[in-house]
Amino acid sequence: MSNKNNIHPIFERLLQKEDREKRLGQKSKVLWLTGLSGSGKSTIAQELERKLYNEGFFPQVLDGDNIRIGINNNLGFSIEDRKENIRRISEVAKLYLNSGIITINSFISPTIEIRNFAKEVIGEENFIEVFINTPLEICEQRDVKGLYKKARAGEIKGFTGIDSPYEAPESPDLEVKTAELSIEESAQKIYDYILPFINL
Ligand code: ADX
Repeated sequence: MSNKNNIHPIFERLLQKEDREKRLGQKSKVLWLTGLSGSGKSTIAQELERKLYNEGFFPQVLDGDNIRIGINNNLGFSIEDRKENIRRISEVAKLYLNSGIITINSFISPTIEIRNFAKEVIGEENFIEVFINTPLEICEQRDVKGLYKKARAGEIKGFTGIDSPYEAPESPDLEVKTAELSIEESAQKIYDYILPFINL
């Protein structure tokens, strides 16, 4: 047999992340929005997703709506379950990352340990941590889902910020104070920050 048969021509190689990024016209990144329940994470994530899409990027929001009712529907809110929640989400985000997609992850991810774990799975160079910094008082005032009221009444146990911890990031890549900014301004702030990282 001639040597020729052992040579794998370049077009037979597996597609690389870079090939997919080129096709999508962007560099893929994982945006990680952390903050209390009711801080505005998911609303900002959706606004940012729309903005990125309108500007020609290819984004995907991952949040409780598509994760906790699907792949993670067997998980609750003990610290162990939250860790497993974030572990699986990190793996999903990594798959998206390698597909060239920009994911906007919107999860409380309440502890430094949990977020460090996510960063490790995803890779520091591709992980952008955004702290949606909304004081507990404001989240509780808004109480969009009525869950703080229930937590205060003892109807929900282990609620983040009430009787389960939330550790704010010590050095996030970006901080968004929603008490001072509208949803649009918050999304714009994140957009402006990430643009240099996602532009090919
Ligand atoms: S995480 O802690 O595991 O990252 P995740 O972001 O997926 O949490 O889910 C948080 C959402 O679940 C909250 O916005 C709220 O709607 C709902 N929820 C239900 N029970 C709890 C609880 N005990 N603590 C926090 N959020 C809860």
